[in-house]
Amino acid sequence: MKNKITVIGSLNYDMILKISRMPYKGESFPANGMVASAGGKGANQAVQAAKLGHPTYMVGCVGSDEMGEFLLKTAAKYNVNTEYVRKTSGSSGMAVINNLEDGSVYAVVVKGANYEVSKQDIDSSLPILKESGVCILQNEIPAEIVEYSIKKAKEAGCVVVFNAAPAIEIKEEYLSMVDILVVNEVEAEFYCGEVIDSVDKAVEQIKVMADRLGNSVIFTLGAEGSVVATGGKVEIIPSIKVEAVETTGAGDSYIGAISHCLIEEMDLISACKFATKCSSVTVCRYGAQDSMPTLEEIR
Ligand code: RIB
Repeated sequence: MKNKITVIGSLNYDMILKISRMPYKGESFPANGMVASAGGKGANQAVQAAKLGHPTYMVGCVGSDEMGEFLLKTAAKYNVNTEYVRKTSGSSGMAVINNLEDGSVYAVVVKGANYEVSKQDIDSSLPILKESGVCILQNEIPAEIVEYSIKKAKEAGCVVVFNAAPAIEIKEEYLSMVDILVVNEVEAEFYCGEVIDSVDKAVEQIKVMADRLGNSVIFTLGAEGSVVATGGKVEIIPSIKVEAVETTGAGDSYIGAISHCLIEEMDLISACKFATKCSSVTVCRYGAQDSMPTLEEIR
């Protein structure tokens, strides 16, 4: 397989607020600290893939502000090629992430420049898509552009890994077109129309979904691990027990790692086991991109 990875998606400036509980309505609640770091599902997934050693290209938009500069510099620091990231005249995407003491996170994301990604941007990236073995996508750019990108990436011959996060309406024909669909339990409920409140329920529903779409599906379930449906089989991959401090980017670390394994021609179950190791390291440190492990660390 071609060894390049292209990620089409978002870049966000993350502000992670350390709080002991969520504020009540009308309350001004003090945070115990703030960590600012580079994020965005797209850029996070690109950084994890690059940290594992593959030539990785980011396609997206940042604003013409200091946050945009910071996002480009951080991606480049981690060896992500940003020549297909366009600067718009507006502001960059950003996220305010409330981080509770148990490591859980509640995020609000400002769309910013991510929603200016256009068909023209995707067309401009066709040369690199044609050279890529894997293309990764998420839902932090307009749905219409996600659908267009899926089609273009398939035509270019890429294996398409689609992280349908956050959950938004994507036409079934495009969901069926991707090779691997990855969602967490909240997104899985949206796409299945069923409550996923246990691993058993996840196993039941992932099979229905994989049969419906005719592709491989992964449900990431946080501390419960993940469930994979591929080639007519369903497997539960348990999580690795660690002391999580902040879980932002855990799912992105998992997806970047899976893409690395696909390039290495590993089977999907082994890929998910490797990805579980990567995300278990990511949750033990603050921030998304800064906390992701290198291949050396995983070894
Ligand atoms: O998946 C984590 C990411 O989601 C954060 O970095 C934040 O920017 C949001 O996009």
